[in-house]
Amino acid sequence: MQAEIVVLPGDGIGPEVTAAAVQVLRAVGQRYGHEFHFTHELIGGAAIDATGEPLPARTLDAAKRADAVLLGAVGGPKWSDPGAKVRPEQGLLAIRKALGLYANLRPVKPHPAALGASPIKPHLLTGVDLIVVRELTGGVYFGQKQRTATSASDLCEYSVEEIERVVRRACTLARSRRGHVTSVDKANVLETSRLWREVTTRVVRDEFPDVTLEHQLVDSMAMHLLSRPREYDVIVTENMFGDILTDEASMLAGSLGLLPSASLGEGRVGLYEPIHGSAPDIAGRGVANPYATILSAAMLLRHSLGLESEARCVEKAVDGALAAGVFTADLAPAGRGVSTQAAMVAVLEQLELEC
Ligand code: NAI
Ligand code: MG
Repeated sequence: MQAEIVVLPGDGIGPEVTAAAVQVLRAVGQRYGHEFHFTHELIGGAAIDATGEPLPARTLDAAKRADAVLLGAVGGPKWSDPGAKVRPEQGLLAIRKALGLYANLRPVKPHPAALGASPIKPHLLTGVDLIVVRELTGGVYFGQKQRTATSASDLCEYSVEEIERVVRRACTLARSRRGHVTSVDKANVLETSRLWREVTTRVVRDEFPDVTLEHQLVDSMAMHLLSRPREYDVIVTENMFGDILTDEASMLAGSLGLLPSASLGEGRVGLYEPIHGSAPDIAGRGVANPYATILSAAMLLRHSLGLESEARCVEKAVDGALAAGVFTADLAPAGRGVSTQAAMVAVLEQLELEC
């Protein structure tokens, strides 16, 4: 197949980890006879420096025409002045919104070789394989905000349609996995959560009778996610609960440097990025962990290009590199990590073996 992939390296370690993931995608293309075409564009601080805007029109146009977008990370101390009018993060929020990316998928599957990196006891982590589907464009983050001298408010709003589409996405995903969905809300208190629960129940009953659904209140979910993470398959939830639970879930895998994400909408173009930020503390030294971005590229193959066996192959290659003990500094004992380049080469070698 042919595919147009827009690469947005961004700031800090973004360029280092996206370069590694692009090399892996090129290798996959060669092995399977696909023609992947890459275009690099600006976003975030790098875009502000070059054009004054965090998301230049040229970048958005390219993204809209593409099959998929691979992003590194945005931000850094250079653009963090609280008084600044334009900020790198605005670029990220704007591109998600403009592409209608309402479902944020974050898989968490701790690797046996990296269990020691998690603060959670290893016996609780063995066999954990879950994915959080976070609603990304609604809820309190996008509701009307008000401020007076003595009070402030943020409106939380959800429409039936906004809930339906993200729940459908979660159920479709569950069908390709273990067939179980846990919907997280606060229906004992919040009206939006009561609607969330009603809609979720109806969508599963009418459209996904083969999927099992369980409702869970967000506060007890926060506890169960750490005490019995193995029991979850697909977790679907609204924007703010998802924001918090995904950071919590990331602790199961040990390092931010291992966790990929995909943001999807109705259109074919999806946005794929590691969940970590631009890591200014280690940027430019060639030591960042590229696995999260390489695993994001695997999600790109799966969700935007429909290349499931190629996606699995990349995931197996990362598994293989980890199993062989190829650890960057975030996973290795102090001072003993390999470079970004060496980790990427290890993945390429595993690709040769696995695929
Ligand atoms: P961060 O994720 O950039 O870094 C947190 C810690 O994890 C740092 O010690 C960093 O060195 C380490 N780390 C992160 N990714 C790593 C990797 N691949 N390999 C090895 N170590 C890694 O979060 P932080 O420090 O809070 O934010 C730094 C900048 O990134 C800020 O400007 C922030 O706004 C931005 N940011 C951007 C995000 C995005 O583009 N999606 C998400 C989160 C933060
Ligand atoms: Mg967050």
